[in-house]
Amino acid sequence: MYTPRSPERGDAQRRSRSRKSPGISGEVGHSRARDYGTDNRAMSAKTSPNRLLQLTAFAITGVFVLGFVYAPVGVWTGPILAAWFIGTQKAWRGFLWLAGIGFVLNLVSNWRGSPLTGFEFAGRTMLSALIGALPFVLYRLSSQRQPGFLAILSLPLWGTAFAGVPYFAASPRTGAISFLVYWFAAVINWMWNQEFRAKKIATGTSIFGGVCVLVFGYGFYLETHSAAPVALVTNPALAWMCFAGGLVLSAWSLTQPGARREVWANKTETVALLRSPYSGDSLQVVTDDGHEVLVSPSGERFPVRNGIPILLEAEKLTGSNQKYNHLYETIGGFYDDTQRVVCGLRGINPEQYFLSYLRLLEISPGDSVLETSVGTGLNFKYLPHGVRLFGLDLSAEMLARCQENLRRWGDACRSFSRKCRGSAFRQ
Ligand SMILES: C[S@@+](CC[C@H](N)C(=O)[O-])C[C@H]1O[C@@H](n2cnc3c(N)ncnc32)[C@H](O)[C@@H]1O
Repeated sequence: MYTPRSPERGDAQRRSRSRKSPGISGEVGHSRARDYGTDNRAMSAKTSPNRLLQLTAFAITGVFVLGFVYAPVGVWTGPILAAWFIGTQKAWRGFLWLAGIGFVLNLVSNWRGSPLTGFEFAGRTMLSALIGALPFVLYRLSSQRQPGFLAILSLPLWGTAFAGVPYFAASPRTGAISFLVYWFAAVINWMWNQEFRAKKIATGTSIFGGVCVLVFGYGFYLETHSAAPVALVTNPALAWMCFAGGLVLSAWSLTQPGARREVWANKTETVALLRSPYSGDSLQVVTDDGHEVLVSPSGERFPVRNGIPILLEAEKLTGSNQKYNHLYETIGGFYDDTQRVVCGLRGINPEQYFLSYLRLLEISPGDSVLETSVGTGLNFKYLPHGVRLFGLDLSAEMLARCQENLRRWGDACRSFSRKCRGSAFRQ
């Protein structure tokens, strides 16, 4: 994993380099367009870590840490962390982890005051933990198929439905407040995934803010007007309505096509560049049982999985390649998030950090770039618009995240799985 360095390092070198080399410009205002000359001036003017960013990052981290020991905060931060965590994991592995963590936390915090026997208490806590983790896995499954603001509603719907389960409900909140707690968690995660880009999150956050004002406004009205009706719907009725809504939303998301897969038969130019890493033979795409496979004239076969040609199977790895592949398969889901948090805590603006070295490569629109060990493709985000991107990596998990990122950033993905040593390309 890289550790972002403070932007001041190498600044003199950057300045002298920028005088020698022409700036690389792109379309102004396009998210992928970069004017490296302008970025360079920005870097020169701002050489120290951004203290405001750093303070904000520490304050937010503090709130999440507080949530582990102070229940009124934990009620809000816990679902945010759980919704984030399940998004970094394969659905069922994430479910088991969440249930396990919930079980241990509840066991530790509630065992003293419980009138139940040890066995009964452990069993009930386990069931509560499983029920508490269910809304997150259902949310994970539907938002994976249909990412977007509507799909995130599955978390508050399922969360409120399961919070209404008598006796076993994991959440201390029920009804409308439960809905808001889970919806808030999903909205925060959705905004984080949209990288807080105002254009992307404006509508969703306005809808959420509007609903909050209405709910809290109505709650205030009920508090201050004793003659007012107690509630619009009872909590059990709301739980059933949410259950029905969760079913409809999940069924709808199942009908969605899911993430668009790369069809390699259409990528003749890229396939023409590829070679078998073993024989050096050229490759072509054939379809076998509905699945694409890259084949060489000598009969070698390389499957395409989830849109990524696998030129080297993970089982064939040995030594440190095997060790690091295992590491990146495990951390691939939260690799990018860790980078963002570390950048925040160090007060580093990621864009400035990445551009501080990418600018030195003098890459222009129209160029082709192959990044070996591309990981999740973080560098690609900061290359000029109109560059042809190619990526090699050992880890399927990192490449899957790379595909997701490129989709989000609006690029076609041309990553494929391969060791760096040796070439998978025509020389
Ligand atoms: C620290 S990450 C860097 C990712 C990316 N270059 C970046 O700057 O964000 C290292 C990546 O190297 C990959 N990797 C490690 N050994 C490799 C090898 N022998 N061949 C190809 N990729 C490898 C890992 O799977 C991982 O995705």
